[in-house]
Amino acid sequence: MRMYDLIMKKRNGESLSREEIEYMIAEYTADIIPDYQMSAMMMAIYFRGMNAQETVALTMAMAHSGDMMDLTAIEGTKVDKHSTGGVGDKTSIALTPMVAACGVKIAKMSGRGLGHTGGTIDKLESFEGFSTRITADHFVRQVNEIGVSIMGQTADIAPADKKLYALRDVTATVDNMSLIASSIMSKKLASGADAIVLDVKTGSGAFMKQEQDSFALAKEMVTLGNMAGRKTIAIVSDMDQPLGRAVGNALEVEEAIATLRGEGPEDFTKLCMTLGSYMLVAGGAASDEEDALKKLQDVIEDGSALKKLADFVQAQGGDPKAVYDTSLLPRASVVEEVISPQGGYVSKIDCDEIGICSLLLGGGRETKESRIDLAVGLILHKKVGDQVSEGESLATIYANDQDKLKAARERFLNAYHFSDQPVKSTELIKGIVQ
Ligand code: URA
Repeated sequence: MRMYDLIMKKRNGESLSREEIEYMIAEYTADIIPDYQMSAMMMAIYFRGMNAQETVALTMAMAHSGDMMDLTAIEGTKVDKHSTGGVGDKTSIALTPMVAACGVKIAKMSGRGLGHTGGTIDKLESFEGFSTRITADHFVRQVNEIGVSIMGQTADIAPADKKLYALRDVTATVDNMSLIASSIMSKKLASGADAIVLDVKTGSGAFMKQEQDSFALAKEMVTLGNMAGRKTIAIVSDMDQPLGRAVGNALEVEEAIATLRGEGPEDFTKLCMTLGSYMLVAGGAASDEEDALKKLQDVIEDGSALKKLADFVQAQGGDPKAVYDTSLLPRASVVEEVISPQGGYVSKIDCDEIGICSLLLGGGRETKESRIDLAVGLILHKKVGDQVSEGESLATIYANDQDKLKAARERFLNAYHFSDQPVKSTELIKGIVQ
């Protein structure tokens, strides 16, 4: 087989066989096929697409390009959760202890933030000493002992995706349905959980801006997961405005903690309850969604979900005292309000721009090597549909640098749009795909 022939085949609109896809992924992972040929192939796929069989073959080839985690030493059904990424998405930090407190085993791999979206690992590092660089043995032991562990994506899990994702990022070939679905699902399948609950974001802060594309992506990933023998469910949720009110690492951790105390923002709480209810049913801890919602409510009310977060933080080297005293989390030195220049109703928030404000403050990475400032970010006081008076605060900015604060404030004001007429708030849950 020659990569040249495969590129030409795809360029001409033909489909690739499973053997051809397996060859291409194996040789690329082994650094035999060069980046320039794979770039051409990605662009050919981008324009010509892949059919269902090709997408399955690509997903399985990437999943098997490195280690397949063996979680059989963990008793019971292991459930994983994955979000396609967004702004203010601190869901895993509140959701995983909630679900674990209800008796479902959570064995999860997470990533860091890149660009305008945040990452769970960075957020968790707001707990001093916390580490996701743990061994597979530690991971398995911890899930057996306390029911939850989050580990960083290792280089040995789906290495083909690692290489391909970096290549797609610089060749304008990220936003293709088959490529996104196979990228996410190859990692999830290699991570070893029995059931997978996906949170597919839609809107201006998401990869998929159009709802119909998000549903198509959700369907594709659910099909891939189920075909591989993993029970897979997707929730399509709104990312046309930030989730909750906090954007920025330690601020988001604080909001997740408030949610575990039953004092979280309504939209974020609702998303955690919805995702959690499907995780409980998939994990066999609840008979149906209604039963699951009650169980989740109980672990918030009796404090066991909060205690589970403290146990989880401690088990991975972090300071559990910060769960009960959030003043121990990183704090910014400058705190300033953003005053509304006009009155009316908030009609729209450019969600990705709010993510960029946090990035400009130092809360996100411009490149993979950037160091991030965990303390900085924003708390939004007004969201879509809210009434606002001229001179009222739209948000509080937390910064450690005056120049960065100025840049973020300007960008923030341009991201807010107003109307004289009342505006309906956006709907959070767009649908369920299973
Ligand atoms: N997240 C991934 O892991 N891969 C993609 O292609 C897009 C989002």
